[in-house]
Amino acid sequence: MRELIRRLSETHSLSVDEYESLITGRDEESARLLRTLAVKVRREIYGNSVYVRGLIEVSNICRNDCYYCGIRRSNGNVERYRLSHDEILACADEGYGLGFRTFVLQGGEDSYFSDEVLGGIVRDIKAIHPDCAVTLSMGERSYDSYKFLRSCGADRYLLRHETADREHYSRLHPAAMSWENRMNCLRKLRELGYQVGCGFMVGSPYQTARNIAEDLKFVETFRPEMCGIGPFIPHKDTPFRDFPAGTVELTCYLLSVIRLIHPAVLLPATTALGTVDPVGREKGIMAGANVVMPNLSPVNVRKKYELYDNKICTGEESAQCRECLSNRMRRIGYEIVADRGDFKKAV
Ligand code: 5AD
Ligand code: FES
Repeated sequence: MRELIRRLSETHSLSVDEYESLITGRDEESARLLRTLAVKVRREIYGNSVYVRGLIEVSNICRNDCYYCGIRRSNGNVERYRLSHDEILACADEGYGLGFRTFVLQGGEDSYFSDEVLGGIVRDIKAIHPDCAVTLSMGERSYDSYKFLRSCGADRYLLRHETADREHYSRLHPAAMSWENRMNCLRKLRELGYQVGCGFMVGSPYQTARNIAEDLKFVETFRPEMCGIGPFIPHKDTPFRDFPAGTVELTCYLLSVIRLIHPAVLLPATTALGTVDPVGREKGIMAGANVVMPNLSPVNVRKKYELYDNKICTGEESAQCRECLSNRMRRIGYEIVADRGDFKKAV
């Protein structure tokens, strides 16, 4: 294990077999070593800065039916909503006042957000706040759509690949969704000059150590600017309701590994990590993450955007989330910084 970890930290690459060994052979000692190396390299690049992105959950209406997701089309118990253009602009204004310089517009695949509608929102946010980055996380769209949104000013796009294994993908999604299309979307986004984020759930149903090893190889070769990973958490109204949640332990271990694969990558300590453990996000930062994403959605819709059970931050105002995270980060020796938090290209 020591030799694998040393080689990973020096060459930023292992074979899929070796990544698998790193996962199946893990113990407290290897976790500690990975964590130490990950925090060291993160500190060299980003110091003790933690970047913030204000998350605006624009719609819980979704045409898809992913088996793990609480807002899947077949879930009849969800009270559906979408935010208007003006409501989204108001969230961004409030966020700006709180120091946010990156906004993430995330939502289900809701056909209301046509290119014209979504493009108009992006254009207006960029016109009012030209010093801010706009990130979209609105699912699979066509090349022309991604191209148009980019021309409206969208800087970044988050689209988790969910799993790098085609077979595993088909166990998490209905037949109407394809792994090929997902991967093609990521390539199109990259080609169009977006800063791209991929990612996957840790401990999703049927996931094997081999699957995770393939995810790591994908991160190594695709070299995303961002990579979002968080534990799978069951949602009571989905087919996966009886599967166990992923662990903080494995998620943090993988955060350290990904930091060593790709030292400059933007790595969020996710809300899901904070949901399975009250100090999960702190543990994520201390394992090598460098981004947090406080919720800027209007409080009256937050409970409705429940991708998984017991999601945190659904009762708090945006200012409270921002404060809460600043304090949490300060307590463990990190500072939240109010800038766009761009990927460091030099490294
Ligand atoms: N548990 C954890 N993460 C989930 N996501 C969706 N449903 C769940 C769940 N039950 C993640 C997916 C998606 C992102 C927005 O949220 O990876 O890409
Ligand atoms: Fe939302 Fe702590 S981050 S309440």
